[in-house]
Amino acid sequence: MDIVRNIADLRAAVAKLRISGASVALVPTMGALHAGHIALVDAARAKGCQVVVSIFVNPTQFGPNEDLDAYPRREAADVAMLEAAGAALLWAPDVATMYPAGFASTVSVEGVSERWDGAARPGHFAGVATVVTKLFQQVKPDIALFGEKDFQQLAVIRRFVADLDIDIEIVGVPTQREDDGLAMSSRNAYLGPEERVTARTLPRALGEAKAAIEKGGDVKAALDAAITRLRDAGFDPIDYVALVDAATLEPVERPDGEARLIAAAKLGRTRLIDNLAVGKA
Ligand code: PAJ
Repeated sequence: MDIVRNIADLRAAVAKLRISGASVALVPTMGALHAGHIALVDAARAKGCQVVVSIFVNPTQFGPNEDLDAYPRREAADVAMLEAAGAALLWAPDVATMYPAGFASTVSVEGVSERWDGAARPGHFAGVATVVTKLFQQVKPDIALFGEKDFQQLAVIRRFVADLDIDIEIVGVPTQREDDGLAMSSRNAYLGPEERVTARTLPRALGEAKAAIEKGGDVKAALDAAITRLRDAGFDPIDYVALVDAATLEPVERPDGEARLIAAAKLGRTRLIDNLAVGKA
């Protein structure tokens, strides 16, 4: 696997990948890779693509009191995992390469990015949309893969790709979980041993709410029960537990179309998010 750190080298390396005639897939990441990220590489390879992975801890998507400095960085281990997974190219720019002096442009997405994580993390989705737009322009992939784990992020990306006529197929990949159900995340490394045990309450509370709603139970009662369960386990604050339309992220009262149960809450200093598809009652 080649590793490139400036845009000229990136363009030359992608041109070389294209000689094979295979489609090029992009998997954007912030590194500290785990099996959730590797599932995206695997899904791209299963489609017959040459896979470009980016690792860039994007400062513009972190709030002033968030974990930018603490965010785990371990490129050597990431490279080993990507080699084993069969990625063709690692794009690992530094901050000055992505945001040179004078940088002044932002991609901001209304509507779908405003609630939930958009409300809890002001500026977060503009940071994501801007850096993903840049990565798309730099790599010019045929397809790009994102995890359903970050469900609102996936919806925001689908929105601006449609709005801005970006000719890249966006592929969503199901959430990869630990054995106890906790969604894999680079931030799980922040959890202490007791918190790690408690963390499984998040997927369990969502699973119970999903089952209750699919049985035809009252949606508000199911969401309230999940909130109570999380609070009793020690999650604080609970940013949201909501049933939403999967495309617009607007709250829904019944799971009629494609509905998603989404949640975010903090356990100690670690903010965890998760979501589940909810079928019709
Ligand atoms: P990061 O958190 O590193 O995640 C990179 C990709 O891996 C995202 O598409 C995310 O949804 C996916 N992912 C993470 N955990 C997953 C899991 N357990 N199962 C399936 N997919 C999972 O998301 C970002 O980085 C950034 O916001 C980025 C898109 C790279 C822009 O900076």
